[in-house]
Amino acid sequence: MNGYSIATIVVIIIAAGYYYFLSQTVDLSKYIKNDQCWTNSPSHTIEDDTTIKPFKVNISQGAIRDLNTRLKRIRNYATLQDTHWDYGTNADYILSLANYWQNHYNWRNHELTINNFNHYKTRIQGINVHFIHQTGSDDLAKKSTKVILMIHGWPGSFYEFYKVIPILVKANHTVIVPSIPGFGFSSPPEKSGLGTIETASIFIQLMQRLGYNHYYVQGGDWGSAIANAMAILDSKHCKGLHVNFVFMTAPNPILTYSIGSFFPSLFVPDPEERKRVFPFLQRIIEYSIEMSHFFLHSTRPDTLGLALHDSPLGLAAYIIEKFIRWSGCSNTSKIDCIEEKFTKDELITNVMIYWVTQTIVPSLRYYKESIFNSKTFELERVPISIPAGIADFPNEVSRPPRSWLSHRYKKIVTYNTMLRGGHFAALEEPDILARDVIDFILKSDKQYSHDNI
Ligand SMILES: *[C@@H]1O[C@H](CO)[C@@H](O)[C@H](O)[C@H]1NC(C)=O
Ligand SMILES: *[C@@H]1O[C@H](CO)[C@@H](O)[C@H](O)[C@H]1NC(C)=O
Ligand SMILES: *[C@@H]1O[C@H](CO)[C@@H](O)[C@H](O)[C@H]1NC(C)=O
Repeated sequence: MNGYSIATIVVIIIAAGYYYFLSQTVDLSKYIKNDQCWTNSPSHTIEDDTTIKPFKVNISQGAIRDLNTRLKRIRNYATLQDTHWDYGTNADYILSLANYWQNHYNWRNHELTINNFNHYKTRIQGINVHFIHQTGSDDLAKKSTKVILMIHGWPGSFYEFYKVIPILVKANHTVIVPSIPGFGFSSPPEKSGLGTIETASIFIQLMQRLGYNHYYVQGGDWGSAIANAMAILDSKHCKGLHVNFVFMTAPNPILTYSIGSFFPSLFVPDPEERKRVFPFLQRIIEYSIEMSHFFLHSTRPDTLGLALHDSPLGLAAYIIEKFIRWSGCSNTSKIDCIEEKFTKDELITNVMIYWVTQTIVPSLRYYKESIFNSKTFELERVPISIPAGIADFPNEVSRPPRSWLSHRYKKIVTYNTMLRGGHFAALEEPDILARDVIDFILKSDKQYSHDNI
């Protein structure tokens, strides 16, 4: 047998396996596992405590002193000449930021801003779930209100939404912003296996516990994956899904990337959008470089995690580099270009949330739990039948062509390509995101409200 026949046979086997995989129907009932307890403590059981307790962020003075001691002892380091952000983080920028952090940044001021919202904690499956629950004050508004759950991703936090929440509340929405288990003030699991689908299950219970029979869900990054899962697993109560991040998955990857390499216009009709996918090899290389963190976190999270857990400078260097890469910071030769998008205080506060809660390790493990979980990929194939809104931000890393989306999202109510903004849309462009969410809820409610009667 020559090489060509072997290659042909291999391709046929892969294709057959793939189509067999696609033809399997997915049994949704097995995804809802409410009986798993994520803590080892024998005093915690799943049904031990269902109360919802008010919570205020109040970091001890000792933790702040410890941080300042560490910031004082930073060792200097220099970036290679003229390399800007090309080698990853820029030491000059991060060191000057650390100087600001130590001498000018005041955590207590930000604690006040954060505590302007109503925070709560409640235990679900052994996890102490932290969330903001913000609603308009007058009773009339409460009745006409639309409820929306907004979910952050990595390396963000609930804090990403601090400018979006007031806009939505002002427009008579009730907003719930949880922390993903093991991020910020939600406690981490003590056992392995808690990824996006398990989080969806926990957040579905959260909405039930809050007494909301109908709600909308919104998310970016991991928040988008969790929101997708909720849209599938709780389609009875979840009335609409709005995402500002969609994983780059072709409806038919084998055909798309083989035949598409020769005839790209067959697979992506729009010439502008075609550049997001083809030339395939070039795009896959760029994508792989941007996704290097993805491979590391989903294989060896604790190795990197322990280093970041122990050093505020390392934690800031790692997190802020992602903010620079994934937002609309167009000119990275300008070392501080990120500050056109976020203030120093915003960048540091988001890092602080990981630091003071000691959650960088669980946040990295979340990739491993979500990726090496066969259920994740199975659920990725399930079409989403509730109304969907997609906000396409130009500096987002993953931007599948619009024509690919109807494969997954069966009822796209709004699809808007924004003028500016990137991965951290809520923090970067709060008005644009909030306006799109409000518009989506209004339209899907008008179009589909009769479905839910
Ligand atoms: C934070 O905790 C300290 C002591 O634990 C207390 O004295 C202080 O009043 C608390 N601050 C807030 C805003 O609750
Ligand atoms: C919010 O609700 C109140 C009371 O129902 C209403 O008077 C007001 O116009 C609403 N505001 C918006 C922006 O819809
Ligand atoms: C990017 O910023 C650098 C440093 O400020 C400047 O010299 C350069 O002209 C800028 N490039 C563009 C394309 O704006």
